[in-house]
Amino acid sequence: MSASFPSAPADWWRSAVVYQIYPRSFADSDGDGIGDLAGARARLDYLADLGVDAIWLTPFYPSPLVDGGYDVADYQDVDPRLGTLQDVDALVLAAHRRGIRVIVDIVPNHTSDQHPWFRAARAAPPGDPARRRYHFHDGSGPDGAEPPSDWRSHFGGSAWERLPDGQWYLHLFSREQPDLNWDDPDVRQYFQDTLRFWADRGIDGFRVDVAHALAKDMSEPLRSQPTLDAALPQDGTDPLYDRDEVHEVYRSWRRVFEEYDPPRMAVAETWAPTNDRTYLYARPTELGQVFDFSLLKSAWSRDSFLGVVRRALADHARHADAGGGLTWVLSSHDVPRHASRLALPPDVAPEDWVRTRGASPRIDLETGRRRARAATLMMLALPGSAYLYQGEELGLPEVPDLPLEALQDPIGRRSDHDLPGRDGCRVPLPWTSTGPTFGFSTGRSWLPQPPSFAPYAADVQTDDPASTLTLYRRAIALRKALQEPDTTVTWLSTDDPGVLHFRRSNGWECLVNFGTVPSELPDGQVLLSSEPLDGGKVPPESTAWFRRPGAE
Ligand code: GLC
Repeated sequence: MSASFPSAPADWWRSAVVYQIYPRSFADSDGDGIGDLAGARARLDYLADLGVDAIWLTPFYPSPLVDGGYDVADYQDVDPRLGTLQDVDALVLAAHRRGIRVIVDIVPNHTSDQHPWFRAARAAPPGDPARRRYHFHDGSGPDGAEPPSDWRSHFGGSAWERLPDGQWYLHLFSREQPDLNWDDPDVRQYFQDTLRFWADRGIDGFRVDVAHALAKDMSEPLRSQPTLDAALPQDGTDPLYDRDEVHEVYRSWRRVFEEYDPPRMAVAETWAPTNDRTYLYARPTELGQVFDFSLLKSAWSRDSFLGVVRRALADHARHADAGGGLTWVLSSHDVPRHASRLALPPDVAPEDWVRTRGASPRIDLETGRRRARAATLMMLALPGSAYLYQGEELGLPEVPDLPLEALQDPIGRRSDHDLPGRDGCRVPLPWTSTGPTFGFSTGRSWLPQPPSFAPYAADVQTDDPASTLTLYRRAIALRKALQEPDTTVTWLSTDDPGVLHFRRSNGWECLVNFGTVPSELPDGQVLLSSEPLDGGKVPPESTAWFRRPGAE
């Protein structure tokens, strides 16, 4: 067993830089071509050099890997392909020794269909108590051959699957991910036990998957909801998402977190557009923090970035009691990487671009590189916490044109590749510029890496002062010195409508130039810039941090 992280403060997560590890694609230690926990442990010095405060591990639990591990067959063990419980202990211990906390993913909305509960439910006849932990239902239509309702799966098609005995079960994601029934006391108890299981092993926090979907209104007749969670009523009356009852679950989880010293942290994933109700998940009596994905959904434009940041700050101020509302994310395992996404014209949805396998429009990777670096520097200068996704520190672009036969994401597979899958941001990392898997594995990598990954490899970037890796390291180190609890952001106007410029209360300033001509830099000491300054000016598509003389 490994000890808790030794030093306070308990609310370290409020301004942390958290690095998301997608273990299968991070580093492989045993040559099976799948990244694993020992591989992650072997790279902790790299993460310590990067300067991150915490790592968040996406699911490493036993899983058929239908949805990259978000189909969990056992919540209290490790998939043998990724390691053992001892590997978790060793990773936690080694991370803590380097001052890095460890967050794990909890997937409470659904299990794998290989979870013992669902196997028992499937084997039992309709009406059997073994089915009560999931949502089983008779079909509609004369002989029950139609789904019980019009609810949609996020991965395409109906959210209902029929069993040979005629009953249907609910799955908001793939059919191999049946939704749990959170009215069942066994379900509630199991997850509390699971939180304790990992907290007892020294895990510092939890990322809660699809946190807004647990409570469902299954009263008859089932109500129509054909739009997923894209546009929800703002009063908790949707039958599937963001219902008031879900908060009771998180209040009970908070009591578990408070059993520990320091209390365990949690961050909620709700994919619905951020609104006032989003912050309810972040109440100190519940999860404490909630993702705001608005930046990750923004195109490269001064007005959309400004709009997102202003809105988030205003929401945060309005919900001052929900202290963990300020979170920023530019990339994750669910969306095209921002080094490619930000190169798209604002009217092209990234999913549509992926659907064309990157053919239309063709993007300019140099534009993407500049904009991604500029966006990252802006994000890291903001108050709150920032979540990084593995590989963004290398400036990795999306791989939109993986061979069709290599693709694994159920979104693409279920829809015959009509819906854009997420494989292109999950390609294993290049650690070295040579070798068959760029140092990821001694075997054959589970998703092929393109030859174009070579110049992004960590080993070629590590000593290059101009590399994206160096920029991230410098930015994170400086941020550590400059970041402060005061969340005040003062907007400074310039004559240039393509410029976004703000000051933190300790005098730290950040200027982003979205325009096409260099922007005048106000007097001050330049601390860092995403591109070399151009005759003392901030070049187009770049960001500079600086302080004016006299600022404390
Ligand atoms: C979350 C995860 C995503 C997964 C889904 C279902 O959105 O981030 O990767 O597919 O939940 O668990």
